[in-house]
Amino acid sequence: MYPEARKFQNESGSYSTRMLHRPNDRAENMKPSWNTPPTQLRLSRENVHIWRAVLDLPSESVQEFKGSLSIDERMKAEHFRYERDRSRFIAARGILRLILASYLSVYPGAIRFCYGKDGKPRLENIFGKTGIQFSLSHSEGLALYVFTQGRQVGIDVEYMREISEMKEIIEQFFSVRERTFFDTLPTSEKQETFFKWWTRKEAFAKATGEGLSYPLDGFDALLAKGKSVESLGILGGAQERPRWSIWDVRPAEEFAGAVVVEGGSLDVQYWQWPGKSRDYPERIRSNVHSFNVSI
Ligand SMILES: CC(C)(COP(=O)(O)OP(=O)(O)OC[C@H]1O[C@@H](n2cnc3c(N)ncnc32)[C@H](O)[C@@H]1OP(=O)(O)O)[C@@H](O)C(=O)NCCC(=O)NCCS
Repeated sequence: MYPEARKFQNESGSYSTRMLHRPNDRAENMKPSWNTPPTQLRLSRENVHIWRAVLDLPSESVQEFKGSLSIDERMKAEHFRYERDRSRFIAARGILRLILASYLSVYPGAIRFCYGKDGKPRLENIFGKTGIQFSLSHSEGLALYVFTQGRQVGIDVEYMREISEMKEIIEQFFSVRERTFFDTLPTSEKQETFFKWWTRKEAFAKATGEGLSYPLDGFDALLAKGKSVESLGILGGAQERPRWSIWDVRPAEEFAGAVVVEGGSLDVQYWQWPGKSRDYPERIRSNVHSFNVSI
C-alpha cells in the first residue's frame, strides 16, 4: 500500500462545503476552496469532483507510484528526456490511479485504460461500465483532475508563462471575434486572457475527446458572464447540440485552468491531494508555497 494511500484512506477529514450551483453563473473570479477528501468517495450523476495535486514528490513516492503503472505507461515514462518530466508523468498517472482506485474500491494497479482515436484515456472493461469519466492535465508540476459519472468531461491547466509565439497561436486557433476583442485589451491583461481562453478551448477539446483535431477557432472562448458554451452556438445545429457547462478554475496564483462538463445543474466539489497539508513532506510544501497555493 502506498504511504499516500494509507494516509488518504485513514483520513477522516472534514467534508467539503458543497457548492450546488450552475458553474456558468460563476464563471468569473471563482476562487474555490480545496478541501480534504472524505474517506468514502462517491460520485453520482450530478457530482463533479475536481482534484488538485502537486507532482514534485519525493523519489520514494515516485518509485511506489511507478509500481502501479501499466507496462505501456512505464514505457511512455522512459521516453522523457529529463528526469523531472519523467517523475512528474509517473506521479500524475500514479495519483490518477490512486484516486480512481478510491472511487472503484480496487487496487490502483488493477485499473486498465484504453484510448480514443485522438488519445483520450478512458476506463477499460468492467471499470468502464461504472460510467466514471475523467480528464487530467498537468503543467509545471501542478496537476488537475476531474471526475464525473456518465458525463463527458475535459480539464486543462496551464502555467501562465511568456509565450514567444502567442501571436501565431492566436492567429491559428482563435476565432475572428476573439482576435478582435483581444486586440482591444491593454497589454497588462493580454497574457492572463490568452491563457484563460486557451484553457477553455483545451478543456472543451478534451471533453469531446478530439484534442487538437477539434477546430479550436470554431469554439468561442470569449464567454460573457453567465453564458454557457451552448449559448455561443457551437457544435452544429440547435437540435443535435449537447449542452455543456464551462467554468474557470484557478488552482494557484500563476496558473489558469478550465473545466468543461456535459450538461448542467452540477454539484461541484474541490479536493486537495493528498488529504491534509501536514501530510506534505517539506519539499512538496515548499513547492506548494512557491505556487501560492493555499492549503
Ligand atoms: C493532447 C492534448 C489534449 C494535450 O494537451 P496538453 O495541454 O499538452 O497536456 P495536458 O497536460 O493538458 O493533458 C495531457 C493529458 O491529456 C490526455 N489526453 C491526451 N489526448 C487527449 C484527448 N484527445 N482528449 C482528452 N484528453 C486527452 C492524456 O491523458 C494526457 O495525460 P498523460 O500525460 O498522463 O498522458 C492536446 O490538446 C494538445 O497537444 N494540445 C497542445 C497544447 C498546446 O499547444 N498548448 C499551448 C498552450 S499556450
